[in-house]
Formats: sequence, structure tokens, C-alpha cells
Amino acid sequence: MSEVAMNDVIEVDYEQPACATQHAWVRVPVEPGPQRRAELKDKIRRLLKERNAVMVSHYYVHPDLQDLAEETGGLVSDSLEMARFGRDHAATTLVVSGVRFMGETAKILSPDKTILMPELEAHCSLDLGCPIDAFSAFCDAHPDRTVVVYANTSAAVKARADWLVTSSCALEIVAALHAKGHKILWAPDKHLGDYIQRQTGADMVMWQGSCIVHDEFKATELQALMHDHPQAKVLVHPESPADVIALADAVGSTSAILKAAREMDAREFIVATDNGMMHKLRMLNPGKTFIEAPTAGNSATCKSCAHCPWMAMNGLEAVAQVLEQGLNAIHVDPATAARARLPIDRMLAFTAALKGGNDAGALVPNIGAA
Ligand code: 13P
Ligand code: SF4
Repeated sequence: MSEVAMNDVIEVDYEQPACATQHAWVRVPVEPGPQRRAELKDKIRRLLKERNAVMVSHYYVHPDLQDLAEETGGLVSDSLEMARFGRDHAATTLVVSGVRFMGETAKILSPDKTILMPELEAHCSLDLGCPIDAFSAFCDAHPDRTVVVYANTSAAVKARADWLVTSSCALEIVAALHAKGHKILWAPDKHLGDYIQRQTGADMVMWQGSCIVHDEFKATELQALMHDHPQAKVLVHPESPADVIALADAVGSTSAILKAAREMDAREFIVATDNGMMHKLRMLNPGKTFIEAPTAGNSATCKSCAHCPWMAMNGLEAVAQVLEQGLNAIHVDPATAARARLPIDRMLAFTAALKGGNDAGALVPNIGAA
């Protein structure tokens, strides 16, 4: 081992690797000051009434967009309930604050409604990582398999699917398909797919996509945090790596995480999902403490690896602008939308049957692709 003299200069490269989502972070809006914020909220409340519109927001977007949605009769929820609520609401315009696939799903389910999004460039790494041509070739290579795709995909990918799932129903749907003898082709999230495969024992071939947010959670660091907080329960979204899921007291979708936090008999929780979730968790659970699970991204150049840059693009200023000017309307090719609607309708019927205590498995055909 060479010795380093006191006056030797050691060259250390402090430069961080480029952030893969820098292009998205530069589009994240600057927070408006208190007066502008109040003006924008008033303007949005007025425009929602004038335009017969309702806000549908995901748990990961800015707290202002979550609170305003609820306060004005809209919804804050997970991707499954956003789809259902948008389809069933009487408003003629939906303002969807979230990422692109959520707006597209709303349009597919409500072709006659106007679907506006604050930011059309709000993508998702799962969607971007599963282009239709490559996905079609993957399906063609496995014609005997039932194609199950996650909601975080393009309309074209959904149009190749037999079933759509979100993280709140994927386990039940794959278990029901497996029970009826289906072999599964799964896309795109590899961690969620692996988790479901381990839970159900289903025969699954998988696309190897991942979520840039959940993929960052680290098991070793999580164990150290658990050591410092021995009473804390660990809540994990199943888009996280297997070794992180293995440490969880509860695994589930954003709504399942909220439910677990409410129902579990603990005062402290470590949460492995996008930190946008903290707003609702803290609001609904006063007196309980929520700690972010650790990621690798604690450097000065990384804003936070536990926050989705595409979700962060949604802001008050843009909501007011799209409502006022009818900008950023979502369009889905009608033929693609008609085919993509099939797997979405199957998922909604399955989950409605589950909720109603009916035999959801009866909706799954016995053999072959659905
Ligand atoms: P949920 O379906 O749990 O809302 O998740 C959507 C999502 O994008 C998670 O990263
Ligand atoms: Fe996609 Fe991950 Fe962002 Fe969810 S958090 S929208 S899965 S990139």
C-alpha cells in the first residue's frame, strides 16, 4: 500500500454522474409566492365552475394540486381510482394532474370529455422504456401467453394487452389468471412483476423496465435506518427492488400504503415511495411520524431521487393556464383507444366485482389469452 505524504495533492473527481432526468427537472415550475398562489387558486376555483371541469390529481403531485382537487369536488388518489373517477364523473372536462399515461387512460375511458393536462411532457420511465414496436415483437414471440400490462404504458401498448393492471389490483388479477391456467407475458415493471411472480407462483415472462424513483431505494441503507428507528413500520411500493420489498411490513400501491399507515398500530413509519405521498400521509395521520426511505441520491446535484420529476412538472400556474385557454388537450387515436379500452374495462370490472364481494375470478376465461 503506498503512503500519502502530507503535502501530496490527491486528485478526486467530485463531479456527480449526470442526472438522467435533468431535462425534466428544468421544466419543474418555480413555487409561486403566497399572493400569487392565492390568486391562482381563486382563478382555478372560478374556471372549474365556468368550464364544467373537475380536477383529478395523483398522490405524487404538489400538495396544492392535491388539496385543490379535493376542495373543489375532485379526487386525489392512485392511478386506478383516478381512472374510475374520471370515467364516472359528470363533468365535461377533466384536468388530470399526474403523468401522461393517466391523461391518456382518462381519454380512452371518456372519449367525449375534454382531458386537459398541466404538462404534456410529464412522462414516466416505465412508459418511455416500453416502446410499442419492441413490445409488439415481444408479444409476437410469445403468442401462447396472456398479455398483462401495467397502467404506466402508452395507449398503443395497452392496445396490445389482454389485461391492464395497476399496483392496487395486479396481484389479484394475475392470481386469478394463474388459477385459470394462463401463462403470463408481463410488462413493463420488472420489480412489480417479480414481486407478483413470487407471491402467486404464476408462469411469467417479463419486460425489464423500472421506475426511476422506486428503483433507487436501497436495502442496506434502509436496514441502517430501521436500526435507528426500531419501532418504525416499513411501507413499500412494489415498484421497489426485491431486497427492499423483503424488509417491508406492508407492500402495496399508494392507496394501500395510506390504508396501512392508518390501520397499523405504530407511531413511526419509514416509507419507500415517491415523497409526494408524505402530504396525504401526514394530513390523515396527525401524531404519526413518516420518514423517507433512503435512496442513493443525497448529493448536492440530485434534487431528490425519491421524487418523480415528471409528477413535479405539474403546477398551479399551468393548471390555471390550460383551463383558461383549453390548452394541452389529450388526443388518442380512436382506433387505438377502442382496442386499448378492452383491457382497461376488464380491470375495472374485475376490481368492481372484488370490491362488491363478488367472484371476480369468474370474469377470467378458463384458458388461452383473454
Ligand atoms: P399507483 O397506481 O400506486 O398510484 O402508482 C402509480 C405510479 O406511477 C407509481 O409510481
Ligand atoms: Fe413513472 Fe416512477 Fe414517476 Fe410513477 S414515480 S410516474 S412509475 S417514473
